[in-house]
Amino acid sequence: RGKRAFIAGVADDNGYGWAIAKALAAAGAEILVGTWVPALNIFETSLRRGKFDDSRRLPNGSLMEIAKVYPLDAVFDSLEDVPDDIKSNKRYSGSSNWTVTEVAESIKNDFGSIDILVHSLANGPEVTKPLLETSRKGYLAALSASSYSFISLLQHFLPIINPGGATISLTYIASERIIPGYGGGMSSAKAALESDTRVLAFEAGRKKQIRVNAISAGPLGSRAAKAIGFIEKMIEYSYANAPLQKELLADEVGAAAAFLVSPLASAITGSVVYVDNGLNTMGLAC
Ligand code: NAI
Repeated sequence: RGKRAFIAGVADDNGYGWAIAKALAAAGAEILVGTWVPALNIFETSLRRGKFDDSRRLPNGSLMEIAKVYPLDAVFDSLEDVPDDIKSNKRYSGSSNWTVTEVAESIKNDFGSIDILVHSLANGPEVTKPLLETSRKGYLAALSASSYSFISLLQHFLPIINPGGATISLTYIASERIIPGYGGGMSSAKAALESDTRVLAFEAGRKKQIRVNAISAGPLGSRAAKAIGFIEKMIEYSYANAPLQKELLADEVGAAAAFLVSPLASAITGSVVYVDNGLNTMGLAC
């Protein structure tokens, strides 16, 4: 049987989640995606109208099939956690079963189990504010959406991930080096995510032989990154200063993710792997 993957954090064809889905589809996996509830409508409509058909094309010429799109809001573990203003929000009330436990339950009912879990989502409402000006609420929201969301997904999906399965999340070097402008607690959120990658690798490894790794990716002009405001500058900086002076393609991150969740990486767990044209290794920009 082919593998089945759930990729949380796909809402267009520009980001890392989409590229990872494609790489996994090209390797023969069945693809399920989790799409942030407010973005669900436009994503499904665009998909249906063929807007993504060009970018659905796989190396063998066929188009990537998405077996099912699940609405997801990874900041809520179950319905009891959802405040009334969200419940009654038009964009949310239009769909149902989008908390983490409910999505796990739905996938269990629809497909039984998965082999691969991908976390490709982040959100920091105060990302444009320096850490020194970040509110408690903004900081905790960044951690909730960008770090705890992975713990929650793994926690609630663990029963339906087949033994020997693997997970991947996406992180950024701002966790360990100062990247001015990556604010609002997002640098802290990535530091937590990387530390959790190690602890969860131990716990999920011992419990079910499930591997947990993260990719520290270089800059990509995704929708989320554009919201931060200086992504073009980061891309130029990387191009000018990385050992490999070339554009970083989302597909290169997709390929690395496909490797890391495959049996080729069966002894790799708890690792943060750089896929950044080598930029992280530079000590002096030149
Ligand atoms: P993206 O915009 O394609 O992906 C982020 C996704 O998160 C979006 O689809 C958004 O709808 C979703 N999302 C936000 N809050 C959510 C929630 N509460 N529940 C469910 N989904 C939610 O952008 P990108 O850049 O591909 O981001 C994917 C991952 O890659 C993120 O973890 C990001 O931090 C990471 N990354 C991105 C880099 C970049 O330069 N673009 C560099 C290094 C890491």
